[in-house]
Amino acid sequence: MNYITVALAKGRLADTAVALFEKLGYNVAEMKEKTRKLIFVDEEKKFKFILVKASDVPVYVEYGAADIGIVGRDTILEEGRNLYETLNLGFGACKMAVCGPQEMKDKLHTSNTLRVATKYPNIAREYFRKACGQTIEIIPLSGSVELAPIVGLSEVIVDIVESGKTLYENGLTVLEDVCPLSAWMVVNRVSMKMEPGRIMDVVENLNKLINEVD
Ligand code: PRP
Repeated sequence: MNYITVALAKGRLADTAVALFEKLGYNVAEMKEKTRKLIFVDEEKKFKFILVKASDVPVYVEYGAADIGIVGRDTILEEGRNLYETLNLGFGACKMAVCGPQEMKDKLHTSNTLRVATKYPNIAREYFRKACGQTIEIIPLSGSVELAPIVGLSEVIVDIVESGKTLYENGLTVLEDVCPLSAWMVVNRVSMKMEPGRIMDVVENLNKLINEVD
């Protein structure tokens, strides 16, 4: 029997995903030990779990190095890879939003030179294009995005809002919601054809489990 490989986005999402797989009876004991290991094998079930950077999960899955991926919808939308989005796992719920100082609320769609700082250039560009055919200037950043409007690097940001604490503590606010986000399970297109039974088992069992928790 072939191994089914599951790529998990390192960090909080992986921790929750590991807890779910444990409840489903997979041997994930070694993963919970928080070592620097990146690959774990459940020999009995013939499953491998690999820990990868969130933005790399869709890459592993599209190329078939992983059959299944568990990653935030923000990453899936931003990467725009060719894969099946099979199941909304519901955890890690937050949203993508346009944020900035309150006074930008009325000016958001009037400027043709709006500078938008973000870790998500594709999502941001697409949102403004769809919202009103607006072309924006993307200022790509890789973290602490909330700083950009404060120091005049951009007028607004497109970023993840979870508790809203980061915005609040930096004097910013949500101006418009872009979309809801949460962890999703994605599947490689060929794997779905080759191993439909074993993959759909995981989908169904995870689905049952998350609905029980709700
Ligand atoms: C994320 C996101 C926001 C913050 C939102 O950043 O980019 O900055 O969390 O969470 P909150 O609404 O609960 O405050 P992350 O913690 O990943 O750090 P980063 O700024 O280095 O990207």
